[in-house]
Amino acid sequence: MSRNNTLPWASVWVTGAGRGIGEALARLFVQKGLTVYASSRATSELESLQKRCQGYSGTIIPTPLDITDLHQIELLMQHWDKGEGLPELVVLNAGTHDPFPAQEFSAQRCQRVFDINLQGTINCLDPVLKRMLKSNSGQLAIMASVAGYRGLPTAAAYGASKAALIHLCEALYLDLKDSKVVLQVINPGFVRTPLTDKNDFKMPALQEPEEAAERIFKGLLGTGFEIAFPRRFVYFLKLLRILPYRWYFALIGKTVKT
Ligand SMILES: NC(=O)c1ccc[n+]([C@@H]2O[C@H](COP(=O)([O-])OP(=O)(O)OC[C@H]3O[C@@H](n4cnc5c(N)ncnc54)[C@H](OP(=O)(O)O)[C@@H]3O)[C@@H](O)[C@H]2O)c1
Repeated sequence: MSRNNTLPWASVWVTGAGRGIGEALARLFVQKGLTVYASSRATSELESLQKRCQGYSGTIIPTPLDITDLHQIELLMQHWDKGEGLPELVVLNAGTHDPFPAQEFSAQRCQRVFDINLQGTINCLDPVLKRMLKSNSGQLAIMASVAGYRGLPTAAAYGASKAALIHLCEALYLDLKDSKVVLQVINPGFVRTPLTDKNDFKMPALQEPEEAAERIFKGLLGTGFEIAFPRRFVYFLKLLRILPYRWYFALIGKTVKT
């Protein structure tokens, strides 16, 4: 495994790398010379990514995995323990969205979103954090969303899962302050991907996955806890976060047109 001298990592594990933001991020990492363990359930998407990335200085290693399956995660950890070790950088990006209004509220649909976005991320986080703490090294980034800041229309399940991830990261960040393990939370605004194609409203400040990947990459090289973008949209949402409910509900109603 060769290290690009200008970067702090030689290898990275990206979950949800088959398409969307994770795919763009995996492509960027490989262009920068990293060995990228690219995970998702769809092996075909990972193999296609690998083919498209031939010729770059890094390597894509398709690493098919369902983050809701503890056994599959354990096997991957054992594989790394026996060989090259855990990658120095881990980006837990895999997630899903299932927009529905209150009129279609469903425990089953909520559970599916929570199983992937929250529990699936936690399933990966557990063995990764243990190993990073043992070596007192490593960098870990967890994909949440600005949708976790406050409630948004049709996003009760999605927003709640992302709010839980933000909260989890805040708590862990405090616990990790005396260790050398770096933890960051990623909160993007809207990015054009198969996930947001499900939204039937006009998405403000929509970005392309490649732009998102560049922002994330820059954030990972920085020292900030939160990697949030696009900046103006994030400031606007952070301002909304401190507004009283009456003003918040009025403003968000005008901003997000369904
Ligand atoms: N797009 C946005 O506007 C936006 C904004 C903020 C945050 N985010 C977050 O960014 C992340 C990526 O979003 P995206 O828009 O790129 O979504 P996407 O295009 O739907 O891609 C999601 C990726 O996650 C993988 N995945 C889903 N369930 C999985 C599972 N159980 N095990 C392993 N992999 C799984 C998918 O592959 P398989 O289905 O083949 O497994 C796919 O590769 C998500 O966490 C999302 O919540 C997105």
